[in-house]
Amino acid sequence: MKKVEVITRPEVFKELRDNLFSIGVGGMTVTEAAGTGKQKGVEGMFRGTTFEIKVLPKLKIELVVEDGKVDQVIEVIQRTCKTGSVGDGKIFIIPVEEAIRIRTGEHGKEAII
Ligand SMILES: Nc1ncnc2c1ncn2[C@@H]1O[C@H](COP(=O)(O)OP(=O)(O)OP(=O)(O)O)[C@@H](O)[C@H]1O
Ligand SMILES: [Mg+2]
Repeated sequence: MKKVEVITRPEVFKELRDNLFSIGVGGMTVTEAAGTGKQKGVEGMFRGTTFEIKVLPKLKIELVVEDGKVDQVIEVIQRTCKTGSVGDGKIFIIPVEEAIRIRTGEHGKEAII
């Protein structure tokens, strides 16, 4: 199993959620986040004074999927989140040792579908 961690623009969330569920993802965790990438924040202007915005609002979406589904998940994320402008976000893939559904005690693949 792998955890797919996506950090992207909040505006795309509804479409991303629907597209991920449509390929059979079992669940996801969403966290409001703030961050900065290569651009190190942007410069804003307020009443004639420039100020630095160091972090921008983002959403972090985490989902654990079986290995065989990772490529499809990445494809959906790229298709949904890519505008081509800076700040589209990042995808991180992290190995997951075990998953357990608390209610039933199911382990592994059974616990994430
Ligand atoms: N190396 C990293 N580690 C952890 N989080 C990151 C990393 N790079 C980016 N992020 C997170 O992803 C968000 C979006 O990053 P962003 O899309 O701006 O990446 P980028 O590398 O600057 O690419 P781009 O040039 O397309 O903007 C950031 O606000 C931050 O929360
Ligand atoms: Mg950036």
